[in-house]
Amino acid sequence: MELNETIKKRRCVRRFLDKPVEWDKVSKIIDSARYAPSAGNIQDWRFIVVTDKSKIAKLSDAALEQRFIEQAPVVIVVCSDIEKIKRAYGMRGEKLYSIQDCAAAVQNMFLTITDLGLATCWVGAFDEAKVKQILSIPEGVRPQAILPIGYADEQPKMPLRQELYAITFFDKYGNRVKDVDAVLGKWGKVMEREVKKEAKTISKKIKKTIKKVKVRLKKKK
Ligand SMILES: Cc1cc2nc3c(=O)[nH]c(=O)nc-3n(C[C@H](O)[C@H](O)[C@H](O)COP(=O)(O)O)c2cc1C
Repeated sequence: MELNETIKKRRCVRRFLDKPVEWDKVSKIIDSARYAPSAGNIQDWRFIVVTDKSKIAKLSDAALEQRFIEQAPVVIVVCSDIEKIKRAYGMRGEKLYSIQDCAAAVQNMFLTITDLGLATCWVGAFDEAKVKQILSIPEGVRPQAILPIGYADEQPKMPLRQELYAITFFDKYGNRVKDVDAVLGKWGKVMEREVKKEAKTISKKIKKTIKKVKVRLKKKK
């Protein structure tokens, strides 16, 4: 799949088929995480692959009873070795880089999962203490994300995305330009919008003319 297509096709899926995931695919998913950037190349991420049904059920409980997790044949729990990153970068390493490093790894995995024709959902809402206990995660290691992986049993529509102009500022925070697509040279988008605008104006003109003609015809009667 082409990268841009994979990025746009990626969806959080919360229904999985009762179908196993091939092992070579699981290793490809984790392998892709290794290529993510990490602060100082510390690579503080750690991955726990869970296939034990009873443990997956417990993880589902720990994730505030998000029951769809139980449908997944494989669950990957992404952890950060906080001690490792803290040694290198202190507080900033612990509170910020550890999260960013794991998030970068998760996104790589998510895109690979999509590319392999599989599906997942980024699960961040869970009781950390419970997850640590279920998986015997030691002190100094923090579970950051749960990825239930399987074959999709639904095709969710893309939830609404904010427009580029609403989230992009120029030179200072809050400084918006109305047509950010034009500034960024996205001429296809600009043309599309202009064509739509033109089509709207023409349709309004046609409606007005029809109205006028109808009035004239009435008067003639
Ligand atoms: C940090 C983070 C935590 C999330 N936690 C959950 C979660 O606990 N349960 C869930 O169903 N979805 C969770 N999501 C998924 C989001 O709801 C989802 O990404 C968002 O609605 C956009 O949908 P999309 O991923 O299909 O584009 C989480 C996403 C992120 C990035």
